[in-house]
Amino acid sequence: MAPWTFAFCHSSKDLRNLHMPPGAHAQITGWGKALPSKVLTNVELETLVDTTAEWIYSRTGIRERRIAGPDESTFTLATRAARAAIAVADLSPARIDLVIVCTFSPEFGGMPSTASLVQHAIGATRAGAFDLNAACSGFVYGLAVAQAMIGAGVHETVLVIGAETMSRLLDWNDRATCVLFGDGAGAVLLQATDRPTGVLSCVLGSDGSGGELLSVPAGGSRAPASTETVQGAQHFIKMNGKEVYKFAVGALPRSVRQAAAQAGIALSDVDLFIPHQANIRIIRSAAETLDVPMERVFTNVDRYGNTSAASIPIALCEAVEEGRLREGQKVVVAGFGGGLSWGAAAIEWTGAHTGAPNDTGAEVQRPLHDELADTGSTVPMPAAGTWVQTLQQVDTQAIDPEWGRGVDPRTGNSIDAPPARLKP
Ligand code: UT7
Repeated sequence: MAPWTFAFCHSSKDLRNLHMPPGAHAQITGWGKALPSKVLTNVELETLVDTTAEWIYSRTGIRERRIAGPDESTFTLATRAARAAIAVADLSPARIDLVIVCTFSPEFGGMPSTASLVQHAIGATRAGAFDLNAACSGFVYGLAVAQAMIGAGVHETVLVIGAETMSRLLDWNDRATCVLFGDGAGAVLLQATDRPTGVLSCVLGSDGSGGELLSVPAGGSRAPASTETVQGAQHFIKMNGKEVYKFAVGALPRSVRQAAAQAGIALSDVDLFIPHQANIRIIRSAAETLDVPMERVFTNVDRYGNTSAASIPIALCEAVEEGRLREGQKVVVAGFGGGLSWGAAAIEWTGAHTGAPNDTGAEVQRPLHDELADTGSTVPMPAAGTWVQTLQQVDTQAIDPEWGRGVDPRTGNSIDAPPARLKP
């Protein structure tokens, strides 16, 4: 057993150091978001389904959402958000050890993973990559994996992206679901630091007994795509809104309390709460349960609707842009959704350029990673600031507009003008 697992806790504050080797805390040094430019308002939805703008706003707090255009997809949104996060951190993509894309609307039905496509497109040449599906809780799960990888000393730099094109999984004849969701992506870069800061705690949970409350019934091994599944609209999101609502108003405040307690911080010391943006009524209910004023709760559900795994990183990014989250402040993020699943994390915000060990532009040594993925143990990195050119070169070469033509497994229709795909 590693020596640090014997660490003795004198107070709940020390909990954050449990199971963490010295010098292996995970701080967020970059953040970014990507949203389609197409806005779909509630008023426009009135012309598509039997609903009213007033019903949608009063029941959910949503006024409008973004919808991906024909050339946009989970991959393109994820890549844009990733680039923005890398730019904020001013980091060479070649330094990234791991790319995690949290999504349940991946680029392809099974493989390749969206994360591998992003890894290639951004030029993260030394990184591993995988998709993570924990539905709307996905980003918090991704944060937990990143923290654990960095905490265990396996990786130094991890890119976590939440990205969804929900519009492609929506039944536009089902007013109970199609008015709720939107498309988008958010990303954060986590880097190792010696200081006990960054991600302070993560709480994850699941109750699979509620799996049928929120699901996409077909397209998996239980009900592979067939004429019947397509005709029966079984490839779209089905939700028992009332039951999910009841679950959410309990799980959200409970997980926030647990994450704060594990980090050793009182709720009154949390500067900002960023809940999953599903419904303003769920958020208000949780704030009331926690006795937290709405001034300390970040919301943007009015502009984007529910973007599932993307909602928390988009909100994090906007909170920083709006000056509502500054260096040294504490933020608790919390997600909930399909699975059923939930998760919360307490984070001390550190900001960009915080002296993370590998953002100097100098040569770095990574024996473990290099043995696995590179030819030598010393890898020369481009100087900070030069990565933009590298990205553009890689991306241009990667796009192959021909690849991806064929039959859309969701609709059975032939794909005439697919969005640009990566070369296999
Ligand atoms: O991110 C994953 C987690 N997902 C969530 O957190 C979603 C949780 N659930 C919710 O947010 C809410 O349950 C909804 C917003 C989905 C629905 O709000 P509600 O207050 O629970 O409404 P309801 O389902 O009880 O429906 C009330 C009425 C029904 O009509 P009747 O049966 O009372 O005549 C629905 O048919 O509203 C009707 N309705 C609509 N009316 C106009 C349902 N959808 C619509 C609509 N426009 N779009």
